[in-house]
Amino acid sequence: MSNYASLDIPANEPERQFYFIDKCREIISEKENTLGRKLTCGIFTFGCQMNFHDSEKIIAILDQIGFEHTESENADFVLYNTCTVRENANERVYGRLGQLKPKKKKNPHMLIALCGCMMQEEHVVQKIRKSYKYVDIVFGTHNIYKFAELLYTRLTSDDQIIDIWEEAKEIVEDLPVERKYSFKAGVNIMYGCNNFCSYCIVPYVRGRERSRKPEDIIKEIEAFAKDGVKEIMLLGQNVNSYGKNLSPNVTFSELLRMVEEIQGIERIRFMTSHPKDLSDELIETMKNSKKICRHIHLPLQSGSTEILARMNRRYTKEDYLKLADKIKTAMPDIAITTDIIVGFPGETDEDLEETLDVVRKVGFDSAFTFQYSKRSGTPAATMDNQVTDEDMTRRFNKLLAVVQEVAAERTGRWEGGIYPVLVEEVNTHDSSMVTGRLSNNTVVHFPGDESLIGQIVNVKLNECKGFYYIGEEII
Ligand code: 5AD
Ligand code: SF4
Repeated sequence: MSNYASLDIPANEPERQFYFIDKCREIISEKENTLGRKLTCGIFTFGCQMNFHDSEKIIAILDQIGFEHTESENADFVLYNTCTVRENANERVYGRLGQLKPKKKKNPHMLIALCGCMMQEEHVVQKIRKSYKYVDIVFGTHNIYKFAELLYTRLTSDDQIIDIWEEAKEIVEDLPVERKYSFKAGVNIMYGCNNFCSYCIVPYVRGRERSRKPEDIIKEIEAFAKDGVKEIMLLGQNVNSYGKNLSPNVTFSELLRMVEEIQGIERIRFMTSHPKDLSDELIETMKNSKKICRHIHLPLQSGSTEILARMNRRYTKEDYLKLADKIKTAMPDIAITTDIIVGFPGETDEDLEETLDVVRKVGFDSAFTFQYSKRSGTPAATMDNQVTDEDMTRRFNKLLAVVQEVAAERTGRWEGGIYPVLVEEVNTHDSSMVTGRLSNNTVVHFPGDESLIGQIVNVKLNECKGFYYIGEEII
């Protein structure tokens, strides 16, 4: 980056990035003057909550630079924040990139950027370098905070800018974050994952576990609370091992208790929990809390002890059942949701029966179900007995039917009761209704208007419609 070495650039973060935000703003405002209109940006996010939260950081930076946000891919700046957990997500990105090429030909101001987990894979970057030369900026999961600097580099040169870091160098605090909702916000508490489940690419693309310091997290949430945020979602690939690499050590429960103290925060959520690390202390903390929501996302992946061992999950079917029981005994009103993979190498119909048995015994309130996708570089990719597409589809459909039956039954158990609902938005299909969530994350629609957004109101759950409720406000 020698082209601006002579400029007076701050060496420290985040000051350095604020400097580049200013620099980009100057260039963009010149372009605005030439074009006689604002420049627009469209950010398209694939994958998990972590990616959505990363996108909020990028949107905030683009906002400060002067871009207007749009949902359209005809924007002047289009960014795909990618996911690579399953192969079909990669294919979709290539497909959409192909469709951008003619758009870019028509609009010489158009910039295209790619970031996220897929970019941490070498073969992907090679392919972009070779076959997608019209992509302007490529960066990864460890240097999102450098986005303004990368954009500036691109705006002041004609080169394709590719900057991928093998690992995180530092955790940069205090960059702007844009919130989609005024009343709820996501907060990263840790990055990366150390678990190396044998099917999963995340530890390779997101790096080792790094926890943020509790004081930085608390400061961020306090600022949100002052700004009117009522619900906080604490984010990490494995929140139960939060704080293990900090000195002094802090447990996740201790962090939750600190968040609980923050005035103005009324609901605390977190994800994701790994069953092997979920402590009794956490169950106790949740049980005694008035703010921690009655919902736990606890990925099962498989109900077969043999498959779990080969997945490197480090718990058995019985461990999982015992843990779920413990949670339900402590908090009978809790909703447990999960992730399940079918078709892991070597899986048999008997293994699937074990999974179905756990689904029925635990009674999941909902489950994300996935067909196993081979990720090169992971141990499972080279395991024997890869499952055929035919078996995979058959098992997937069987699992889905059982999951839906169990989930509908579980969701229905609140019918007739009156519960607090945090209202999130006006219903997208019927503008005389609003949509919100119970503490246990169940969706509720009821008559109301915009003025209720962000409020917690009592709602009678009149009718369960499978996965959601229709209710009425009780004043
Ligand atoms: N194939 C299918 N599903 C996967 N997941 C992670 N890796 C794979 C894979 N290779 C699922 C897991 C995880 C969720 C986020 O994605 O269920 O919990
Ligand atoms: Fe992937 Fe396992 Fe880490 Fe979750 S815990 S991100 S499934 S390696």
